[in-house]
Amino acid sequence: MKSEANSVQSEKSSAPSKAARTKRIAVLCSLLAATALVSCVSITRTVVAPPSIPGATYVGSDTCSQCHENVTKGFHTATHARLKAPGANAADVGCESCHGPGSVHSESGGAHHTIVNPRKSPETCFQCHLDKRGEFNLPHHHPVLEGKISCGDCHDPHKGQAVLGGGTAMATEFDTCGRCHTAQRGPFVFEHEAVREGCTTCHAIHGSVNPRMLKERSSVVCLKCHFQQQTTAGRIVIGGSDHTTRLPRGTCFSAGCHEAVHGSQIGSSLRF
Ligand code: HEC
Ligand code: HEC
Ligand code: HEC
Ligand code: HEC
Ligand code: HEC
Ligand code: HEC
Ligand code: HEC
Repeated sequence: MKSEANSVQSEKSSAPSKAARTKRIAVLCSLLAATALVSCVSITRTVVAPPSIPGATYVGSDTCSQCHENVTKGFHTATHARLKAPGANAADVGCESCHGPGSVHSESGGAHHTIVNPRKSPETCFQCHLDKRGEFNLPHHHPVLEGKISCGDCHDPHKGQAVLGGGTAMATEFDTCGRCHTAQRGPFVFEHEAVREGCTTCHAIHGSVNPRMLKERSSVVCLKCHFQQQTTAGRIVIGGSDHTTRLPRGTCFSAGCHEAVHGSQIGSSLRF
């Protein structure tokens, strides 16, 4: 644990404290994480006590594999497996970085209430992803802290990419989000091409200050792609159509206009 972690600790040690609540820094943080491999993470660990079972000590991932082979066998492909530093003093990363020290659990043969399960509490994730606690506290958020859904519904901690359907793999993002949000999933007769770029084009998935977890307030979310043209006659044209009298009526997606933002069965102008 010590070796790799400490080498990046100094250059980044100011990140987590300031980072706490803003998305911009969150992004910066994850960019840094991508380049520096071991991130913010190792620092916050020393500050915030991780959830754990009283009296338990670290046993190392090899012990877990004796009984959870189905989980351990794919773990080397997981994003979080990169945190697993080699060597004898690396026992506290790997499985136990999220599940806490596992000696009591292992010795009891897997008795109930002897190990942390992040499905029941995201605290274990926040010890490293401190900024996420802030995001889930924003006025409009996925109800993770309320216990209605868990990080694990959208993230795979055990194998492959941690962000399910991440990157440009739109089909899989449909699968991830569409599992719970069937109405937005389609298929639609008239698709909105923007949705193909991913739900995260418009939504701040963890939480946002804006209603519907939108990344931008009001019509700005649309106008970043749909150019607003001001003609010499003082008219405002969007998408080749005169919007001068329409804009004061409300946002693009309210006021009886393009309410079917995700796609429409009725018409190409995205109405219900
Ligand atoms: C001696 C066997 C054994 C070892 C070693 C073991 N487990 Fe388990 N574990 C079990 C059994 C049995 C269960 C209960 C399975 C069930 O309920 O389906 C379990 C359940 C769990 C659960 C779910 C608990 C819950 O409350 O939902 C987690 C998480 C877990 N183990 C993680 C680990 C980790 C991490 C390690 C290594 C530190 C580990 N286990 C080592 C046998 C073991
Ligand atoms: C990045 C954090 C993280 C790491 C590292 C991690 N787990 Fe998990 N684990 C989770 C989460 C989150 C869940 C709950 C999954 C869910 O919400 O369905 C979980 C659930 C489990 C369960 C309960 C059964 C299940 O599948 O739901 C077992 C057993 C388990 N993990 C074992 C392991 C073992 C063994 C390792 C090491 C190879 C490991 N975990 C590493 C986060 C982690
Ligand atoms: C011990 C610290 C630690 C814990 C605990 C931890 N993470 Fe991470 N996580 C990291 C680091 C470091 C990275 C960046 C890894 C990289 O980019 O190589 C990361 C990356 C991620 C990513 C982004 C992956 C990507 O492809 O951009 C997600 C999503 C994530 N973690 C979710 C979780 C969830 C959910 C939990 C709790 C179940 C959790 N993490 C617990 C350290 C941790
Ligand atoms: C409703 C689905 C969903 C839930 C629930 C969720 N996430 Fe995410 N998360 C995503 C998506 C989608 C991305 C990719 C974001 C993007 O591409 O803009 C992401 C990205 C991330 C990242 C990497 C990029 C970043 O923003 O730093 C981390 C770390 C992360 N999530 C942690 C968590 C933790 C910790 C939890 C639980 C407390 C959680 N997530 C719950 C969907 C979710
Ligand atoms: C496990 C189920 C689940 C998954 C997966 C999921 N969500 Fe949600 N989502 C919810 C719940 C529950 C709410 C809160 C609904 C409420 O409070 O009425 C919600 C709320 C939302 C809202 C705000 C709705 C409103 O009326 O304000 C948006 C936007 C959203 N989710 C988008 C997404 C996107 C995009 C994804 C994929 C990255 C996703 N969700 C994945 C369960 C899920
Ligand atoms: C082009 C931007 C955009 C994209 C891409 C997008 N959304 Fe939305 N979404 C919106 C807007 C705008 C609203 C608010 C609509 C309203 O208030 O009537 C919304 C509302 C929602 C809601 C709340 C329920 C509702 O319909 O009002 C959910 C859930 C949702 N979106 C999920 C998703 C999912 C899942 C995806 C990916 C398949 C996605 N969104 C992609 C712009 C978008
Ligand atoms: C990521 C870029 C992007 C965003 C954001 C976006 N759109 Fe689009 N939209 C497109 C593309 C691309 C098309 C298809 C090409 C075209 O018709 O301009 C399209 C088409 C449309 C159409 C159909 C035009 C027609 O007559 O065929 C409407 C209506 C529309 N968008 C409304 C909206 C609304 C409302 C929002 C905000 C909630 C929005 N768009 C956000 C990219 C975007």
